[in-house]
Amino acid sequence: MAASGPTVVLSSGYKMPLLGLGTSQGAIVKPKPKEVLDSVKVAIDAGYRHIDTAWVYKNEKEVGQAIKEKIAEGKIKREDVFVTTKLSLTCHQPDHVRESIVKSLGSLGLDYVDLYLIHSPICLKYGTKPSEIFQPTGNIEDLYDDVDYVDTWKGMESLVDEGLAKSIGVSNFNSQQLERLLQNCRIKPAVNQVELHPYLAEQDLVDFCKGKGIHLTAYSPLGSPGRHGKRHSAPQLIEDPCVTGIAKKYGKSPAQILLRYHLDRGVSVIPKSVTPSRIQANFDIMDFSLSQEDMATLCGLDRKLRYVAGSYFPTHKYFPYRL
Ligand SMILES: NC(=O)c1ccc[n+]([C@@H]2O[C@H](COP(=O)([O-])OP(=O)(O)OC[C@H]3O[C@@H](n4cnc5c(N)ncnc54)[C@H](OP(=O)(O)O)[C@@H]3O)[C@@H](O)[C@H]2O)c1
Repeated sequence: MAASGPTVVLSSGYKMPLLGLGTSQGAIVKPKPKEVLDSVKVAIDAGYRHIDTAWVYKNEKEVGQAIKEKIAEGKIKREDVFVTTKLSLTCHQPDHVRESIVKSLGSLGLDYVDLYLIHSPICLKYGTKPSEIFQPTGNIEDLYDDVDYVDTWKGMESLVDEGLAKSIGVSNFNSQQLERLLQNCRIKPAVNQVELHPYLAEQDLVDFCKGKGIHLTAYSPLGSPGRHGKRHSAPQLIEDPCVTGIAKKYGKSPAQILLRYHLDRGVSVIPKSVTPSRIQANFDIMDFSLSQEDMATLCGLDRKLRYVAGSYFPTHKYFPYRL
């Protein structure tokens, strides 16, 4: 696999590049298909070989188109690029899982994905639209369904048997939910994708996953600056004086320091950008690592601040976070 940067071998036996491109444009922003198409192409040219998308981002078509164009140009082969997508919250019934991945594969124009994640342990009623998920107009509890994620997982395992997903995993699961899954699975989750950054270090979850051989991927690694719907009063991680001070010391940008922090913790990371210079700079973090002292400073910033997922469906029986 050319120019992927460092990789991790997942419990499935497949290699995943530790640095990938995020493609979510935020929950309530109108999708900008051209931005996503161009950003994935720029990323592949810059050396990224791992792209993160999801059914709910409504951009699988553009992600797939960008990959197709780069394959046609001879820049990459299909097997060079690691593609992750995610199961809709509305398709947790085991017999809806296959239907969901088939739709995603159709949009992506691919025969298989490298990693398929249960987007959240929370399940919503079949047929709920993305707009209703992110901006519910009525009582959110009317959207709830209570399919057990252990049952959903059985549908996920069948996808591996069929070759539709090389690896399977979860997202937004807490350690109790992971433990329950581990006790009831045939194929263990290869990955748990969760919000992680110095303001949300989740050391217990990091230790738990390490002990169980579940790889962690950090989403919103920069603190998701620019995300609509975030708490306006929340401090901006990327502007934290500790982060900017360390950046100055290494001659790097604050974003590069925040991304390197994950790699030095053994966590993979999927920063989103549609800005070519940022996409390139975010990949340019392989030539240094942080000293123990600077890692300790960054770890000391933990304040259990969740920029993204904390506000979605907090009364659902499988809501994974303590508020
Ligand atoms: N599994 C889940 O539930 C879940 C939830 C949230 C996110 N995710 C995934 O994780 C990815 C990343 O998370 P995220 O998009 O929330 O947040 P993020 O990657 O922390 O931040 C993205 C924001 O940072 C800006 N940015 C990127 N590089 C920068 C740089 N070098 N300097 C300054 N600003 C920079 C981007 O702006 P521009 O684009 O304008 O450059 C964008 O506004 C998502 O895209 C998605 O793929 C998954």
